[in-house]
Amino acid sequence: MRLPSTTNRFVAIRRLTANDVNALKQFFEVNDLPFFNEAAECAEKHLAAFLQVPTKSCFAAFSREVESFHGEIVGFGSIDVLARPRGGRIAYLGEVYVSNAYRRKGVATKIVHSVTEEADRLACHQVILHCSYDTIGFYERTGFSVWERGMRLEMGK
Ligand SMILES: CC(C)(COP(=O)(O)OP(=O)(O)OC[C@H]1O[C@@H](n2cnc3c(N)ncnc32)[C@H](O)[C@@H]1OP(=O)(O)O)[C@@H](O)C(=O)NCCC(=O)NCCS
Repeated sequence: MRLPSTTNRFVAIRRLTANDVNALKQFFEVNDLPFFNEAAECAEKHLAAFLQVPTKSCFAAFSREVESFHGEIVGFGSIDVLARPRGGRIAYLGEVYVSNAYRRKGVATKIVHSVTEEADRLACHQVILHCSYDTIGFYERTGFSVWERGMRLEMGK
């Protein structure tokens, strides 16, 4: 499903490159993100490696109040494309996060839109994600629907 295009006067969204590591490090640190334990290490090591894989991308929302497009990152989301053995590709949408001060301004919607466009470009037939119960309403508003159950196995315990 393609989401309608959104407009947003607060942010500009673009794909991250290796040159954005410092801006992303700052975003992780300022927001104390729950899913990134070691902000600096995460930005420097893992993001750089992630971005080298053609089927993985990160999109960020840059505040228009600070030197538009090269300023402060205020929102983030990633996409990881998985090839299925039976054919076809699905995209995993991960780590959508928007800084407190920028919430409820349509920023996350715009990030999700960028990710779904990328999934479409990469010929994925589905975008999947995991979310907390608290954010089901947000994803439903962007066109997703609850589908069966997710499960996981914690390794090394
Ligand atoms: C959830 C989150 C990404 C939403 O970001 P946001 O930029 O505020 O979202 P948007 O402004 O694009 O919201 C789009 C719509 O969803 C609604 N919405 C936003 N957050 C919601 C929530 N938690 N529950 C239900 N609806 C929500 C908004 O009201 C808006 O509807 P409207 O246009 O009718 O006002 C943000 O609150 C966040 O970063 N939370 C912490 C991290 C997190 O939980 N991420 C998801 C992990 S999977």
